[in-house]
Amino acid sequence: MPRQSSQNTSKRLSQYADRYRLTIPEAQIELPSFAEEVSTGLSAAERSLPCRFFYDEIGSKIFEEICDLEEYYLTRVERMLLRERAADIAGHFDQGATLVEFGSGSAGKTRVLLEALLAAQASLVYVPIDISRSAIEESAEALLREHPRLSVHAVCGEYETALTVLGNHDSTPRLVLWLGSSVGNLHKPQAADFLMKVRAGMAASDRLLIGIDLRKNRERLERAYDDSLGVTARFNKNLLTRINRELGADFSPEQFEFRAHYHEDSGCVESSLVSLRDQSVQVAELGQSFAFQQGDKIHTENSYKYSLQEIDELAALSQMRCETRWLDDDDEYSVNLFAPV
Ligand code: AVJ
Repeated sequence: MPRQSSQNTSKRLSQYADRYRLTIPEAQIELPSFAEEVSTGLSAAERSLPCRFFYDEIGSKIFEEICDLEEYYLTRVERMLLRERAADIAGHFDQGATLVEFGSGSAGKTRVLLEALLAAQASLVYVPIDISRSAIEESAEALLREHPRLSVHAVCGEYETALTVLGNHDSTPRLVLWLGSSVGNLHKPQAADFLMKVRAGMAASDRLLIGIDLRKNRERLERAYDDSLGVTARFNKNLLTRINRELGADFSPEQFEFRAHYHEDSGCVESSLVSLRDQSVQVAELGQSFAFQQGDKIHTENSYKYSLQEIDELAALSQMRCETRWLDDDDEYSVNLFAPV
């Protein structure tokens, strides 16, 4: 079914040939495969699975469900901030801008910015960069249909690929979006390293608009990451079903319990799956089996939270400065405009 609908999307996109192109860079930065990551991750003394594998078709759908949850305030608050501030943000670019977005996904929050820019300039180029080709195509089709003065120059690839894309540009200033507090998946030093590479691809007139979730009380955070409907638990356990499906494993997801724990010192919400009993899991494709004792943990994700001072430090470490920052009334979430120094 999804393949079918995606073929139709590609077909419908062909009518926008003059305003749409998709680049799939050949020199993709090769990250280890799912099989390799599962093998090393489950063999290690501290077991872990990389969170980038959450987002298969099913996982991407579950993630959309998370974003609609009352308890997962991040999406809602960020969208509200962007809606309120879109005109201010667009106002930073008096000669117009190109919009670039890392991890654009369904581009739900991008619309308001895109429309604010289009209100002030004759035409706009939007460069969505995402690992999911179907997400790019579906959002591009809708955007092109609604906005006749918009062109979409999409890139399908990993973040690392996005960095090379950022390096090639013309003289039009760019507004680079990295929304959703995705930076929180990186340890704080790695976040600075990554932003430093982003900075290296930016011209002086380019700006980075980065959404970053803020430190706050434990209950609020742990509820956001372990919601009462169990959607986030399902999101995490989908990793195990994905291993079953793609690597011929025999995980029983119900024999694992999902946990989210806030480490206040580092600001990290750590997500994990904990074995509810002693058990052994076969992974046919790897020809390996993995023994779990009751209480053994598989680490699945880090979601780091920042203080305002830590955000300024992050900017400084990546040779930028936070030019403008917008917060919601309850100081739960931040949208920051970083400028190169
Ligand atoms: C998409 C990485 C920002 O860490 O908040 C949501 C992913 N994980 N609920 C986050 C996620 C569990 C999310 N990011």
